[in-house]
Amino acid sequence: MDTPRHFLSLLDLTPDELDRLIQRAIELKRMQQAGEIYEPLKNRVLGMVFEKSSTRTRVSFETGMAQFGGSSIFLSPRDTQLGRGEPIEDTARVLSRMVDLIMIRTFEHEKIETFASYSRVPVINALTDHNHPCQLLADMQTYVERRGSIAGRTVAWIGDGNNMCHSYVNAARQFGFKLRIACPEGFDPAGGVLQAAGGAAEIVRDPRDAAEGADLVVTDVWASMGQEEEQERRAKAFADYQVNDALMALADKEALFMHCLPAHRGEEVSASVIDGPQSVAWEEAENRLHSQKALMEFLYCGVPG
Ligand code: CP
Ligand code: NVA
Repeated sequence: MDTPRHFLSLLDLTPDELDRLIQRAIELKRMQQAGEIYEPLKNRVLGMVFEKSSTRTRVSFETGMAQFGGSSIFLSPRDTQLGRGEPIEDTARVLSRMVDLIMIRTFEHEKIETFASYSRVPVINALTDHNHPCQLLADMQTYVERRGSIAGRTVAWIGDGNNMCHSYVNAARQFGFKLRIACPEGFDPAGGVLQAAGGAAEIVRDPRDAAEGADLVVTDVWASMGQEEEQERRAKAFADYQVNDALMALADKEALFMHCLPAHRGEEVSASVIDGPQSVAWEEAENRLHSQKALMEFLYCGVPG
């Protein structure tokens, strides 16, 4: 049996495949909005393993499968044997003999790597503590729809060097933009991820230096899922890292603002920015649906057209 293609990181696809996937997402969105029925995954089933909460990811994958003519199964540790200690390896072998695609949201990245190595079908990373590549597909689609190619542009990441930041570093490599990261000391992205990106991404510390002339400003929560107990300590460390009107004023006048959501107004972003004219957060959320449909089509059916 052939080894399936997985999507555990943006580095699992080539830059050319990623560009084509974004174009395909834009086309699938147009088809959906025109009411065209397109069911490449008819009778196919997506298994969805959620070890953390989700609104957008769950709804976008389930809706995408329904629109593609297939169905999906929501699985959580609370009501599967995963929660009672059945090994990942065994779960992967069993699930992948029944369903056609598997999506996983979990804590340790190693878990999804182990799962994928025992799976007969494509595995999609729907967020780990290490990265969140599906979100980047939606973000890149949103940028391209609004402003055209992101290659050669400058992106400012303001805040934690977390899973989203890691995916932005990988995106800088794959999509050819320059990433400036403003994070407080002690909250840097993993050194290995940064080094592998070469000159594409750099830490600048000061949010104002990162935002200066940027084409896109991005932030995320200060305490990610699993870090709830650090909330207070983090709020102090990140107090000067809010994306607000003063920071956006330093960016290019055409700059967009993105946030993967959920957002905390008054913490990492002011209400005036996320609800303001430069914010594309709602399109970004919608594009989770279209870009993940393009991803599932790519992984299951191969390159479109
Ligand atoms: N952005 C994102 O992944 O949202 P959810 O946690 O709601 O899935
Ligand atoms: N960094 C956030 C992203 C949520 C979509 C988290 O991991 O909780």
